[in-house]
Amino acid sequence: MEVISIISEKGGMGKTTTSVNLGVGLSRKGKRVLIVDGDPQGNSTSYFSKVYHKLDLKEFNTLSIPDSPTPRQATTFLKNYIKDSSSNLKDINNVLLENKEVIHECIYSTEYPNVDIIPSFGTELIKTDKLIASSTRLAHKKLKNALREVRKEYDVVVIDNAPTFNNITVNSLFASSKIIIPLKPGLFELDGFINTLNELYDFEDDYECNYEIKILMNMIPRGNRPDYQRFIAKIKELYPDYVFNTTIGYQDAVASRSSMKTKLLIDSKSKLSEDYLNLIEEIEI
Ligand SMILES: Nc1ncnc2c1ncn2[C@@H]1O[C@H](COP(=O)(O)OP(=O)(O)OP(=O)(O)O)[C@@H](O)[C@H]1O
Ligand SMILES: [Mg+2]
Repeated sequence: MEVISIISEKGGMGKTTTSVNLGVGLSRKGKRVLIVDGDPQGNSTSYFSKVYHKLDLKEFNTLSIPDSPTPRQATTFLKNYIKDSSSNLKDINNVLLENKEVIHECIYSTEYPNVDIIPSFGTELIKTDKLIASSTRLAHKKLKNALREVRKEYDVVVIDNAPTFNNITVNSLFASSKIIIPLKPGLFELDGFINTLNELYDFEDDYECNYEIKILMNMIPRGNRPDYQRFIAKIKELYPDYVFNTTIGYQDAVASRSSMKTKLLIDSKSKLSEDYLNLIEEIEI
């Protein structure tokens, strides 16, 4: 079982887009795929309506609310409502905090054949991160140990991570055999990229670990744009073994249209679908 983490300390680099398109794409090549949402934003989870709709709006809309609540009362009321309605939905938090066997209860099937997900419902992961921080070292290997429980059931695990380097990320790194860092061209982006690599190098120095690092040049405007080609060439020169030959293009409609936010690019009619299919061909699994 290959475990791939998509990591970048900078937000908006395409971690989630890469995770879900790569995950579903690999399933179409006959792989049994498990996607893990390691981000409190739960963006990967929201791609899979079969899972996401478990947080049902219909029920919320028929809720009877207390009479003229103050904003504080309203907030407490909402908090209790969310706590009650999601308390029986297990997710990544349970994997990270409970016995490894709980993983079997945290996996949901999706509308895509051979793609399952361990979702992230709500923002509990922020609290979970703090709990792990104040716990023993073993707490950093929870995900690795839990995934071992299902190693015969999946060929590939793809972990989407938050744009920070926290204890959830450390759990992902311990579990991973491959790291993919998506990189958009630009100076701010390079800054985040350097931080990400330095965090990875520090981690490697502190712990014995065994993963391959790959860089995915992402959101590259197409057409005759020599600056971008030079940028890619420079990164390749600096990291000859890291960079995928495949690059993913940039498409305005994806960035600007909210209806595209939870659509799979591999199923779109855009050129990006070809790019992702090329990546899926290139990636060695
Ligand atoms: N190839 C692309 N062309 C244009 N826009 C894209 C492309 N890929 C992703 N996007 C858009 O860029 C934004 C950021 O992408 P995504 O959510 O995957 O990044 P992220 O790294 O997961 O962000 P975060 O750090 O917040 O988790 C999204 O609005 C997404 O729709
Ligand atoms: Mg994301």
